[in-house]
Amino acid sequence: MHVTHLSLTDFRNYAQAEVALQPGAVLFVGRNGQGKTNLVEAIAYAGSAASHRVSSDHALIRSGAQSGIVRLRVQHDERAVVIEIELNRSAPNRAQANRTPVRLRELPRYFAYVIFAPEDLSLVRGDPSVRRKFLDTLVVQRTPRLAGVIADYERVVKQRNSLLKTARASRLPADRLSTLDVWDERLVSLGTELIMARAELVEALRPQVSRAYTAVAGDDQAARISLRLTVDADADADADDSVWAGVEDSVHDDAAGVAENYGNTAEHIARRFRSRLAERRRAELDRAVTLIGPHRDDLELELNGLPARGYASHGESWSYALALKLASAEVLRADSVVGDPVVILDDVFAELDEGRRERLADAVGGFEQVLITAAVGADVPRRLAATRIGIEAGLIITDDT
Ligand SMILES: Nc1ncnc2c1ncn2[C@@H]1O[C@H](COP(=O)(O)OP(=O)(O)OP(=O)(O)O)[C@@H](O)[C@H]1O
Ligand SMILES: [Mg+2]
Repeated sequence: MHVTHLSLTDFRNYAQAEVALQPGAVLFVGRNGQGKTNLVEAIAYAGSAASHRVSSDHALIRSGAQSGIVRLRVQHDERAVVIEIELNRSAPNRAQANRTPVRLRELPRYFAYVIFAPEDLSLVRGDPSVRRKFLDTLVVQRTPRLAGVIADYERVVKQRNSLLKTARASRLPADRLSTLDVWDERLVSLGTELIMARAELVEALRPQVSRAYTAVAGDDQAARISLRLTVDADADADADDSVWAGVEDSVHDDAAGVAENYGNTAEHIARRFRSRLAERRRAELDRAVTLIGPHRDDLELELNGLPARGYASHGESWSYALALKLASAEVLRADSVVGDPVVILDDVFAELDEGRRERLADAVGGFEQVLITAAVGADVPRRLAATRIGIEAGLIITDDT
């Protein structure tokens, strides 16, 4: 798919902007602070109702304005969709697809994109929460229905935590907490569904990450990703007890057997989940937090057998983060009924050496549309820089080539 038109009203430093776009590579150039990132941020926002830079939407509305609008027209083959989001300071945001109201969390159904930006270094260096967010964004892009599961799961964790707090305050004995059991079942069933979705995703990403890392870094280093699960046995447990034993077996099975094996594995996870909750109930009551579940899991990133976090160099961490994003684009491309995701590279080329720039250009060259921002056009390999759009102080200066 590709974006054919973007229109902004009171978004960031844009009072009003109209940008027509072609498939292929498009380079947005302009000096620092002119609005290049703001523009691609708006495009990404239309596919997720989330910014890659800020968690609150208030900064997205132009200062002094009460609301802003992002309107995006995307096309896949002959089919076009117009997505419109209204951002409001003092009312909930609203979205439409082809003039029909849709929920914000439904947006990934209409527009698929992958953005890579300097902030993504935190995928490697940051807390597990950053990696969980990365996984869940992709989980929802692959299976939009799971947005609801994730939202419900998060609500259950919150409610369960407040119940644990009440229980701690009232010093109820652990075996008299029948309400907690009810929440446990909700936690286990939603949590298991999320774990399964993340696990399938990680299986799909793993070979792509390793390939993309080699492609970007230009040397053969083993980049391997895996899920670390709190429902799994502690490190000292017997390896055969891993909940993934079933999944790994199923990969070798015939297609008919796979679904069944995943089914078994889900049951297996649910069982482990319950028994780990029982094991940790005392600790959960002491601390008044839910200690077991996908909200505490992590995506482990290894490079040559060592954890990337804490070991990888700056350049290696960059390559790793980039490999995760390129792998995401490949996975979405393979899954998607709407074709390639739009690949967005924000301020990436300035950070890379010559060899990495060329290799990145190779890696993204085959996608239907690649949107690039750079302060210095010369940093971007020529084959990606043929179509340029200049940006100056929130104004679009078309075609300065
Ligand atoms: N809500 C807002 N209202 C008005 N202006 C804003 C708002 N949010 C950000 N800006 C302005 O937008 C500018 C930053 O734009 P942006 O991040 O897109 O720059 P850029 O062109 O990507 O620059 P760089 O090359 O440094 O990455 C800043 O001047 C900032 O003050
Ligand atoms: Mg920028």
